[in-house]
This record gives sequence, structure tokens and C-alpha cells, in this order.
Amino acid sequence: MRKLELLVAILLVVAMLCGGVFAAVYALGAQIQLAAAMLVLGFGSLAAAMVVWERRLMPGRVSIEDRGSLPSGEEKNDAAAQTLLAGADAIVGRRTWLVRLFGGAIAALGVGALFPLRSFAPRLTGIDQLSHTSWKFGIRLVREDGTAVRASDLENDSILTVFPEGRVGPQFIDEMANDATVLVRVPPAELALPPARATWGPQGLLAFSKVCTHAGCPVALYRAKARQLFCPCHQSTFDVRTGGGRIFGPAARGLPQLPIAIAPDGTLHALGDYPEPIGPGYWERA
Ligand code: FES
Repeated sequence: MRKLELLVAILLVVAMLCGGVFAAVYALGAQIQLAAAMLVLGFGSLAAAMVVWERRLMPGRVSIEDRGSLPSGEEKNDAAAQTLLAGADAIVGRRTWLVRLFGGAIAALGVGALFPLRSFAPRLTGIDQLSHTSWKFGIRLVREDGTAVRASDLENDSILTVFPEGRVGPQFIDEMANDATVLVRVPPAELALPPARATWGPQGLLAFSKVCTHAGCPVALYRAKARQLFCPCHQSTFDVRTGGGRIFGPAARGLPQLPIAIAPDGTLHALGDYPEPIGPGYWERA
């Protein structure tokens, strides 16, 4: 009996640990496979503990057998009662610990299971990663290798993918997907930007989110003659002269434009983050 109780206790401790590790792994954004393994192992251990408890530790069915009276002396009766009570106390004491372990295991797994709920309610939890990128006022535009981009680096009809300075490299791989920005240059005389963005295309330089507003593919192609950015996934097409307005395809809206300026030393820097969420339109409704 004691061995079975020890087995149940070990299974419950494993379940508790798995719940804690799952929460930590999920919160840190580490390997999703490890998080899933913790969840499976945790709930598996809890289930195994419940089965052992129910099958081996719970009293079996009550069976009553008729028998004749077997009188014994008062002394024997008292001694037997003492023995039974002592044993019952020991069992109840151990079982109390097991019940507490059960509660702990269920609580740990329950708290761990709450973490993924954050993904469904980013605004409720204050996590607004989909609405913002790493771009901020004053941050310079750099290439993937970290070198700063100068206005003179781009000729008319050229295109370059840029990122916020200090946010490039393997450790920023997730942010880079959202921060990726295409920089194009067109003759300034052709610009037809909305009045509120009149200064966002210095010397004909324009910066747009590289994440397609349809389904998130990289908008990586530029039709220089037509001044159009083109998404190869489903052919959404955006006019850079009007500030990234959609002119064709399934995208529901234009490409967000990044406000930029030219510094006295000729390098380019952002005037702030994108004024609207980047990427697919459903992010706006999150
Ligand atoms: S993802 Fe760009 S058009 Fe569909």
C-alpha cells in the first residue's frame, strides 16, 4: 500500500513540475515542442495517478458475509480497537498529503493552461505586439548587415529592404519579420502622397511595411516603371506614389507607410512607428 501511495505522490509531483515548466516555457516564448511535451507529460501523470488511486487505493466494494457471533473478551476488543484506530490515523495522515498533492498538481496544470489564453486576448492582457513594430523616432534605417542607409545609396527606381538599427541579427529574427521595410525611390515630381503625409517622402524616398496586408507574405517585388510594389503570393499591388494605396488584388487595404527623414549626415531615420498595424487586416480587429 505504501509503495502505491509513493507512486501516486511521484506522479503528482511530476504533474506539478510539468505545469510549472510549461508555463515558464510558454511565457519565455521558447520551443513550442517542449511546451507541448510538458503538457502531455503533466496531464498523463495526473491521469495515471488518478487511475492508481481509484483502482488500488480506494476501498473495494462492500461485501457482507453472514457469520455467527465470535465472542471475545473486553480486553481483546479494546486492543483491537486501538490497533485499528492507530492504523486509520496513519492512513488518513498519508492520504491527506496525497489529496494536497492532487490539488497542487491540478492547480499547477490549470495555471499553466491559462498562459495560452493570452494569445486570444492581446488587448486585455496589454500585449499589443501585433500593433507595433520596433520602429521609433530617430532610429536609423539599416541593411540586414547593420550598415546605415544613406539617401544617396538609392537611385530612382531602386528598392532596398531595411530594418531598425540595433534590431538585426539572429536574436531578433522574430522582430525582423515584422520590422522589415521596403525602401524605394521615385522622382519626387511623381509623388501624390495624402496631404497629412506630404513630408514622408524626402527626395522621393518612400518606406513601406514589407508584410502584405492580405495574408502576410513579403511584398518583395517592385515594378519600377509602374511604381508599384507587388506581392507574389496573390498578386496584390500597391502604388508607392500615393503612399502604398492598394490598386489590385485581395488585400483589403494599402501598405502602411513608415514616416522617414534624412539626417544632416545623409543617413535615413524613422520619424516614429507605423501609424497603423502592419500585416493582414484581421490584426486590426484583434
Ligand atoms: S499575401 Fe499578398 S496578396 Fe495575398
